[in-house]
Amino acid sequence: MKNIENKVVVITGASSGMGAATARKLVALGAKVVLAARREDQLKTMVAELGHHSMYVITDVSKRTDVENLIQQAIATFGQVDVLWNNAGIMPLSFFEEGKVDEWERMIDINIKGVLYGIHAVLPHMLARGKGHILSTSSVAGLKTLPSAGVYGGTKFAVRAIMETLHQEVCEKIRVTTVYPGAVATELGHDITSPKVRAIYGQLENMPKMEAEDIADAVIYAISQPDHVVVNDVVMRPLGQAR
Ligand SMILES: NC(=O)c1ccc[n+]([C@@H]2O[C@H](COP(=O)([O-])OP(=O)(O)OC[C@H]3O[C@@H](n4cnc5c(N)ncnc54)[C@H](OP(=O)(O)O)[C@@H]3O)[C@@H](O)[C@H]2O)c1
Repeated sequence: MKNIENKVVVITGASSGMGAATARKLVALGAKVVLAARREDQLKTMVAELGHHSMYVITDVSKRTDVENLIQQAIATFGQVDVLWNNAGIMPLSFFEEGKVDEWERMIDINIKGVLYGIHAVLPHMLARGKGHILSTSSVAGLKTLPSAGVYGGTKFAVRAIMETLHQEVCEKIRVTTVYPGAVATELGHDITSPKVRAIYGQLENMPKMEAEDIADAVIYAISQPDHVVVNDVVMRPLGQAR
């Protein structure tokens, strides 16, 4: 596919969900993908499936040195990084009165600092090349907040602010895209420990959801645009999701 073939795309959060779905589609279209996440078994299985146009680097995005190593490994193996998608994230929703401060801190470390470490690790390389594309995954919870998503939404509002500022600072050379999905059927939320939130989500089991592949198609649309076109924001909801 035009403007996808031979591009080197680094994806964090590539061991499941929308990151994994996008990696599969990108390789099918001729890109080279570098898969990053913590679960080695999943990453190994994916590389076995995708072949020599893929590699993995075990990465905890909350660790700055891990993210720097990820970008260095990608450049050492494939020669360059054309696209970085900061997609890793967690969503242990809870109400403030439950006081789950450890979970707030993990969300801040992964959902915000992980994005910042990605930008920091790849930006000098892209600026030196005079081109590149950085995407990050926010959420519709980064556009409008709701009860139990105070901290999760806070991290996603932060991603929005970071990416909008990044665009303003580097738009002469670098393409910047923020993805704001509504509900998608993935593993996200498996780590919710709040009984109140679990009860609410249990009742919402049949709510409309997109598939990870739907997000993959949108990300591929953004990456495949001609070099002079920047898709800044992608907001997607399943039919029937009001907020
Ligand atoms: N699903 C939705 O409805 C929805 C809606 C809006 C936004 N989003 C956002 O979309 C992104 C992808 O989520 P998903 O829906 O595809 O869910 P998912 O299947 O749970 O994927 C999350 C990915 O993030 C990785 N991850 C988590 N913590 C990490 C860490 N410390 N370091 C590196 N990787 C880490 C996970 O891999 P490991 O566990 O192997 O590390 C996994 O690959 C997230 O940022 C999420 O907030 C999702």
